[in-house]
Amino acid sequence: MPGTSEKKASSCGDKKCRREMTVGEVAERSDVAVSALHFYESKGLISSWRTSGNQRRYSRDVLRRVAIIKVAQSTGIPLAEIREALATLPDGRTPTAKDWAKLSAGWREELDQRILQLTQLRDRLEGCIGCGCLSMQSCPLRNPGDQAAELGAGARYLDVGS
Ligand code: FES
Repeated sequence: MPGTSEKKASSCGDKKCRREMTVGEVAERSDVAVSALHFYESKGLISSWRTSGNQRRYSRDVLRRVAIIKVAQSTGIPLAEIREALATLPDGRTPTAKDWAKLSAGWREELDQRILQLTQLRDRLEGCIGCGCLSMQSCPLRNPGDQAAELGAGARYLDVGS
């Protein structure tokens, strides 16, 4: 269809088809603040290059990278772990759908572990609600698993401060 190819050629000639983006464009397209993008960059999660006028430019694949960072962050994965996971990809490339499946599977295991720990913590907290004793002998939060008993007889963890 002549009309279709004409339209395609026209849309690739405009700004949308450029291979590089300014930080403002990345912020707008990814719905992430410019300051957050600078922060991600300072932490090695994304990268840019400078123009002769010392302005940052990003390749378009940064949008996918930022999307993955945001999704991982929303599940509580620390930025350091996200960076480590992204660094496992060859040549620091942007994750493909297959890469994302692999990364997210690893993070799911970690989330399961964290949920288990939090559930156990919540269960221990139930006995403390309305108590306030914070006793080293009987409070499961103050002395989880009675760790003080393993240290032998006598006083442990004395609060000498205020
Ligand atoms: S505060 Fe009393 S048992 Fe934890």
